[in-house]
Amino acid sequence: MGMSSAWNNVGAAANALEKVAISNLFTQQPTRTELFMFHAGELLVDFSRQKIDAAALQALVALAKYSDVENQRNKMFSGEAINNTEDRPVLHVALRMNADESVVVSGKNVVPEIHATLQRMSYAAEHIASGAHSGATGKPIKHVVNIGIGGSDLGPAMAMRALIAYAATGVQAHFVSNVDPTDLAHVLAHLNPHETAFVVASKTFTTQETMANAHTAMKWLQTGMNVASVSNHYFAVTANIDAAVHFGVPMENIFPMWDWVGGRFSLGSAIGFSLMCSIGAQHFGDMLLGMREMDEHFCTAELQENVPVLLALVGIWNRNFLGCASQAVIPYLQELARFPAYLQQLEMESNGKRANRAGELVEHATSPVVWGEPGTNGQHAFFQLLHQGTDVIPVDFIGAARTTAAGLDEQSVREQHQKLMANMFAQASALAFGSPAPTDIPSAQGEHRVFPGNRPSTTIVFNELSPRVLGQLVALYEHKTFVQGCIWGVNSFDQWGVELGKVLAGDVLAHMANTSHDTTLDHSTRVLVEWFLKNS
Ligand code: F6P
Repeated sequence: MGMSSAWNNVGAAANALEKVAISNLFTQQPTRTELFMFHAGELLVDFSRQKIDAAALQALVALAKYSDVENQRNKMFSGEAINNTEDRPVLHVALRMNADESVVVSGKNVVPEIHATLQRMSYAAEHIASGAHSGATGKPIKHVVNIGIGGSDLGPAMAMRALIAYAATGVQAHFVSNVDPTDLAHVLAHLNPHETAFVVASKTFTTQETMANAHTAMKWLQTGMNVASVSNHYFAVTANIDAAVHFGVPMENIFPMWDWVGGRFSLGSAIGFSLMCSIGAQHFGDMLLGMREMDEHFCTAELQENVPVLLALVGIWNRNFLGCASQAVIPYLQELARFPAYLQQLEMESNGKRANRAGELVEHATSPVVWGEPGTNGQHAFFQLLHQGTDVIPVDFIGAARTTAAGLDEQSVREQHQKLMANMFAQASALAFGSPAPTDIPSAQGEHRVFPGNRPSTTIVFNELSPRVLGQLVALYEHKTFVQGCIWGVNSFDQWGVELGKVLAGDVLAHMANTSHDTTLDHSTRVLVEWFLKNS
């Protein structure tokens, strides 16, 4: 069987289920959850509320098989240049390998350098926390501000919020990403320059937003402390070491990035330094351990029990065979508030592509729109549409058996957490099974009171959101993204689609600065720029 007949077989399985509702699947097989629930690390993943049966799953697993997923996975782990449009290996998985493992890139094992960097990060983080690394005026550093955007922000910012209960060092991490000066101003308004260090996180060290914020922050330090040299308030994480040195970051404060780590896959690299400064090297190491555990599962579990593969396949099923253009991720954990935003970059920047690896137009739809907010908040905002809207939007529910909330009355915390989880389970059930209109209502309310159900969801649960569990969760979605890229036939590791906007922003800026009258700007842009210049 080839890839296209594997695809057709999934189509046939979808046709066979066209008139079958999720509730029918449960009627036919009341204990189906046992068949569709899988473990990976500490995660328990329930696919039984997907509109899927054993035949469909089998066809999907065959699709993964014939899409070269295993071969591509092995190539990724062994350092082959699977990022074909940039001719680079894809080795975020090496970031969490054990020190005695080896991946050779251009004749050199990269694992020792990764571990040497982790040691340097840990040394610096400890020295900041102990006060041994002080600021220009001799005061201990209490705040670390990560300046970065996209993958140089979303990972550590998401993880810092997720692991706030594990903040152990007394150093607080803050995140500034937007070129909008209110972002930096808002964060710095609460900080004291004598006690603040900046981590300029940028693989390229040329990103407009990051460099603008890094320069403005330097002026804030110089004016605030009335000193000219503030270099020991700066750390950098970059693949462009020369640019960081030129900016004024001391060599010993620069941590390397490598071109084989994509920004959106970089949380386990030194991009996580600000996070490490706050949670400590031990917890950071636990997060890497969790990632490694998911990597091991991904590499060793049979495809039909391989949770990242199954999550990817269910996504393909919903996107390509049930026609769902959007995917919601609803964590019932306030700490995971930034997880949907993190996944937006991970999945949409990776797989929001219209050309396949060979440079031809793809024949099938690729990444859905990924979005979400924590529950229960979402229930009081957009769940109306999830239950009764005209589009079916699959949901990933994420929840924990125990809360990390501390400092409040214990009994109340337990009760509130139980309410939280009751809501999560209830929402997944309501989406799947729906409900007819009550019989005793005014006829005008008829359809308004019907919950059609038959709306699919996956539920991911674990005991508690620890660094290790977060690592597993992150690697789960990384590998899901990779598998979907293999099946859609796209290169998940480039992002050419962000370039045009950057170039045009330069043209518009030049026009604003009046240095280029000979502009090719379109009429609408010119009129709006004139309006801005007149009113700003
Ligand atoms: O513009 C998109 C992007 O290149 C992302 O892929 C990346 O994570 C982000 O910008 C930041 O890039 P850098 O780390 O080079 O500043």
